[in-house]
Amino acid sequence: MMKNKPKLSLYVVFFFYLAAVTSDLESDRRALVNVRNSVRGRPLLWNMTASSPCNWHGVLCTGGRVTVLRLPGAGLFGSLPIGGIGNLTQLQTLSLRFNSLSGPIPSDFSNLVLLRNLYLQGNAFSGEIPSFLFTLPNIIRINLGENQLSGRIPDNVNSATRLITLFLEKNQLSGPIPEITLSLQQFNVSSNQLNGSIPNSLSNWPRTAFEGNSVCGKPLNPCDAAESDKLSTGAIVGIVIGCVVGLFLLLLILFCLCRKRKKEENVPSRNAEAPLAAPTSAAAVPRETVVDVPPAKATASESGVVSKDLIFFVKSYGEFDLDGLLKASAEVLGKGTVGSSYKASFDHGLVVAVKRLRDVVVPEKEFRERLQVLGSMSHANLVTLIAYYFSRDEKLLVFEYMSRGSLSALLHGNKGNGRTSLNWETRAGIALGAARAISYLHSRDATTSHGNIKSSNILLSESYEAKVSDYGLAPIISSTSAPNRIDGYRAPEVTDARKISQKADVYSFGILILELLTGKSPTHPQLNEEGVDLPRWVQSITDQQTPSDVLDPELIRYQPQSSESIIRLLKIGMSCTAQYPDSRPSMADVTRLIEEVSHSSGSSNPVSE
Ligand SMILES: *[C@@H]1O[C@H](CO)[C@@H](O)[C@H](O)[C@H]1NC(C)=O
Ligand SMILES: *[C@@H]1O[C@H](CO)[C@@H](O)[C@H](O)[C@H]1NC(C)=O
Ligand SMILES: *[C@@H]1O[C@H](CO)[C@@H](O)[C@H](O)[C@H]1NC(C)=O
Ligand SMILES: *[C@@H]1O[C@H](CO)[C@@H](O)[C@H](O)[C@H]1NC(C)=O
Repeated sequence: MMKNKPKLSLYVVFFFYLAAVTSDLESDRRALVNVRNSVRGRPLLWNMTASSPCNWHGVLCTGGRVTVLRLPGAGLFGSLPIGGIGNLTQLQTLSLRFNSLSGPIPSDFSNLVLLRNLYLQGNAFSGEIPSFLFTLPNIIRINLGENQLSGRIPDNVNSATRLITLFLEKNQLSGPIPEITLSLQQFNVSSNQLNGSIPNSLSNWPRTAFEGNSVCGKPLNPCDAAESDKLSTGAIVGIVIGCVVGLFLLLLILFCLCRKRKKEENVPSRNAEAPLAAPTSAAAVPRETVVDVPPAKATASESGVVSKDLIFFVKSYGEFDLDGLLKASAEVLGKGTVGSSYKASFDHGLVVAVKRLRDVVVPEKEFRERLQVLGSMSHANLVTLIAYYFSRDEKLLVFEYMSRGSLSALLHGNKGNGRTSLNWETRAGIALGAARAISYLHSRDATTSHGNIKSSNILLSESYEAKVSDYGLAPIISSTSAPNRIDGYRAPEVTDARKISQKADVYSFGILILELLTGKSPTHPQLNEEGVDLPRWVQSITDQQTPSDVLDPELIRYQPQSSESIIRLLKIGMSCTAQYPDSRPSMADVTRLIEEVSHSSGSSNPVSE
């Protein structure tokens, strides 16, 4: 019975915390002083006359308690005391990476029930990995790499149900690797003394996550390696010869195919066989940008299922049929998570974008129903779905073509290549346009979400107006195409890429805003070093420096007068990336807030060169 009343007990706990806030901050201060007195080396330049520790370097308070302690590379050595960090009971993030701290991980870290991020990599911590780390209820990231930890990896790793990062590389851990059933995004146990076989649940990680141990099994060598070790030289020679012959045959086949294809190109009446391929009439497109799509050619023509034609939602783009579409000259635009996209140019001047879906997992009926829903959507900031085509082997979506490409290319593209830098008004306009489109999707019904918000799915029209693409496709695409990948846009609660809630959309949109303003891609290497995501990175900089330090330098260089509005938008982005879905605003609220910000800051030319 008692267990059924978590709200009551939380409330009571909260009440007592309120009453005790000042003395708790006092206790946090004592704990920090204890740490300072115990570790040696370069002294911590903390102002001991200050009664509150909240302004000390590396310390961050929230709600009158210490919640973050970050002292990376601070030259600390010695061992951490009991009654130090373990007494900071509200601590959420601890980063002491790249110091020279030694001794065991203190046993009173078990008090840190709110701890989410533990970065102790690059020290000399020794002893065993305490198993209580995995029962800390909020723990999300554990990085203990490059220490001198020994003993076994605790068996209770799976108790840390929210864990996404587990880095244990370069220690002296021994024994087997336990079965890990969590959906981790980062994992590494390389360069230890582990032995035994790699559990199945981990076999999809790259080899480098396991190398430098005595372990076997996928992705490393099979466990009956005793036999494969004894491959005779004869066998090896045989294999090598086999490979060479195979490669030669493959080249021969390719050569023949190319010759055959050249001949076909001379017979214009037959090129209908080549979907999206370049016929001889591709005069308008420079030769080198014209490409073929060989697999489509093979499947569509051989199976002969070109039975039904395109299904149109919008006729105003002009008349064309599947045959005409396949004959149009095509140019690859890019490869995305749902498939590849092409630009198709018709002889009479019409240009459309074609998306070739791969890994469609739903049956035809469901696919058509889904597409019918998507086709009925219409909003100025959504890329218009013009038509689609479905056959067993080929699923094509025809969209309006966006001449400025994607926001991702614009933000992170090659500078020398005529990349334009976007000014504040344009960025605010893009944020607003995208927000309106997503708001529109969310307003359709409570279960409709975009499902894949990221900067490469925000396309730009000639006048830099944002148009959102790839909406609503997540549920029909297999989510196995990119398992366990670090996807900087994905909300922490998401476990199935095919089921993205509206609040998870809000999270992704928040990341997009941060990306738009910082100019940093959420998968930027600088972020991954600490296993930090973009919001945490922005938070850590803005805590210690001025908010404008995180902004894209190009953004403030020309418009220092806009910085107040920019910071307001940054804060909106941060609020969208709240860890818990219920703490995030709704997309309608976000849109209204962005409208206020962009109205208060006038408008001028879309780009500054
Ligand atoms: C240290 O803190 C005290 C009290 O808050 C303050 O008066 C003093 O200026 C601070 N010293 C430095 C060097 O910041
Ligand atoms: C740490 O907490 C324990 C238990 O609450 C307390 O007895 C001890 O004095 C604290 N240590 C410091 C340095 O504040
Ligand atoms: C792993 O190593 C330990 C000693 O460190 C040994 O006792 C155990 O038998 C080894 N297990 C396997 C499967 O090789
Ligand atoms: C694991 O760590 C090693 C050593 O730092 C590194 O070389 C390797 O790339 C890492 N692999 C993965 C998958 O993180």
